Amino acid sequence: MKILVTGGTGYIGSHTVVELQNSGYEVVIIDNLSNSIIEVNDNIEKITGVRPEFQNIDLCDSTALAEFFKKQNDISAVIHFAAFKAVGESVNFPLRYYHNNVTGMINLLNELVKKGIRDFVYSSSCTVYGEADKLPVTEESPVKKAESPYGFTKQIGEQMLWDLSAVSDLRSVILRYFNPTGAHDSSLIGELPVGIPNNLVPYITQTAIGKREMLTVNGNDYDTPDGTNIRDYIHVVDLAKAHVLALKRMLDRSSEENVEIFNLGTGRGNSVLEVITSFEKVTGLKLNYRIGTRRSGDVVSIYSDTKKANEILGWYAERDLNDMMLTSWNWQKHIGKD
Ligand code: WQD
Repeated sequence: MKILVTGGTGYIGSHTVVELQNSGYEVVIIDNLSNSIIEVNDNIEKITGVRPEFQNIDLCDSTALAEFFKKQNDISAVIHFAAFKAVGESVNFPLRYYHNNVTGMINLLNELVKKGIRDFVYSSSCTVYGEADKLPVTEESPVKKAESPYGFTKQIGEQMLWDLSAVSDLRSVILRYFNPTGAHDSSLIGELPVGIPNNLVPYITQTAIGKREMLTVNGNDYDTPDGTNIRDYIHVVDLAKAHVLALKRMLDRSSEENVEIFNLGTGRGNSVLEVITSFEKVTGLKLNYRIGTRRSGDVVSIYSDTKKANEILGWYAERDLNDMMLTSWNWQKHIGKD
């Protein structure tokens, strides 16, 4: 079976392509390489022995996208990763985010309806929950007002799937990721942040390798045990495996629902300082960091209730924080500091 993976040369996309190929699926990637590099295809081939088909296409180019689908007649399902995802950047450039993430998804869905492709896995985010009233968050926890244009584009994407599936044959699985981190054991693929990393773990590894001077912890005066924010960090390989199980569930027609939502986290919350402690423990390094001021838009604490994915998908996060730090560090050493 052939699966289209949009954004398949990206961080989570590339790890998912590896797991799809490991599970016997044929993969075609479309990606505009705005936040990834084409050499990722070489590295996927090194890991799995199979080179994914690749087309450099921007989802906002509806003509090129239509041309692509005209030539493709055996796509069974789509996993949609292609989107901008930097929270801070989305605040500074909202229209860029609405155009890329929303228009791009509209163009893609238009093509799927035209081709009669029914199965769609959507990359969403725990950001949709905002500051949850009750922890851990379940899939029934209320979706709050988005804290950023990025988060809002994820909410719009989810709503589009509900509305479209009510009037078409489209069936979707919405996967709400918590905080993806870590890298493949081969250290051949991993997170490749462009410019100064927004996210905590790449900033930690870039500081440790000497690419960044010092990590700033964004505030330690929150109402948490050590004063720093709590997040549910999940290994990217665990996350990738969940996509294959979600896809299989749809292709096997195991669900009566047109739209299903799953939280993908470990169910464990770790603070920023606990992440730093874990990193120092597994690497034996002393991380250079200071305590700075709070970052606007940060929720104090969020972590997931994973019961639904455990019971319905038969999926369990298997890798712990130390493994996430070790694989992140091995990846950083592989790519160096330039
Ligand atoms: C985690 C914690 C920071 C950097 C975002 C998106 C989410 C997903 C993951 C795409 C926070 C603190 C960070 C630093 C720090 N993205 N931090 N110093 O904001 O939880 O989630 O990225 O899907 O949708 O919302 O992740 O890694 O940016 O921050 O202290 O240099 O680390 O303040 O408390 P976040 P993050």
